[in-house]
Amino acid sequence: MHIARTLDDLRATLDAQPARPVLVPTMGNLHGGHIALVRQAVALGGPVAASIFVNRLQFLPHEDFDTYPRTFEADCAKLADAGCDVVFAPAEAELYPEPQTFRVQPDPALADILEGQFRPGFFGGVCTVVLKLFNAVQPRAAVFGQKDYQQLAVIRRMVRQFALPIEIVAGATQRADDGLALSSRNGYLSDAERQEAVQLPLALRRLSGAVRAGGTAGLAALERDAEAALAARGWQPDYLTVRRRGDLLPPAPGDTAPLVVLGAARLGGTRLIDNLEI
Ligand code: PAF
Repeated sequence: MHIARTLDDLRATLDAQPARPVLVPTMGNLHGGHIALVRQAVALGGPVAASIFVNRLQFLPHEDFDTYPRTFEADCAKLADAGCDVVFAPAEAELYPEPQTFRVQPDPALADILEGQFRPGFFGGVCTVVLKLFNAVQPRAAVFGQKDYQQLAVIRRMVRQFALPIEIVAGATQRADDGLALSSRNGYLSDAERQEAVQLPLALRRLSGAVRAGGTAGLAALERDAEAALAARGWQPDYLTVRRRGDLLPPAPGDTAPLVVLGAARLGGTRLIDNLEI
């Protein structure tokens, strides 16, 4: 497995490969969810490139950019083991050699709701770095985890609207035995919080079950109840909501569009997100 720190090295390495790679973009601190994405990329046929870059542009000033775990050696060992061919791990000055004053401005209808409402500018930062990574790697396909459901939708729309010749592949959410979605931020949880954390996927499952049983009439009350139930356990929910899968807008009465339930809530100092297709 080759580790490229510079764009020149990355391009020379990829130019020597027999085909354009499949890219798995990451911010490092890799867990089983990332490794499943890499294995999925391997199954699409090599070569596989993974990027490790903690992208300052997608963090708000009070968020965890500085403390986000940097675990490069362990990450590389896991990537090599999963069959990754090339790791692109640029320093910040390599990817942002000057202030990034040109940015991708994602569609606000998709990017300013849900995560975008609670993390303003987040998807602009994500799209800007992903577009840069796409330009650097020029992959034929890229794999993104479904755990970040809205991110996947935003990237898909960006790729479609800019007509980028890249297939976007969704990777299923990987879960611990109790059902908690694997996430780099799970590492911030205390033992007691880790035990409690499963209540988020359970709340999504209950909401999903209620919609499957009774439809979307009275949905607002179901969502409010779901949030209140988590709040009563000491969580600070940002949203638990049922949306249309395609555009993440609330379903209209009688809507037959496929649905997804999405949730974000803070447990102590840790903000967790999860989703479940209904
Ligand atoms: O999902 C992530 O880890 C990040 O948002 C991504 C796609 C690597 C962009 O920094």
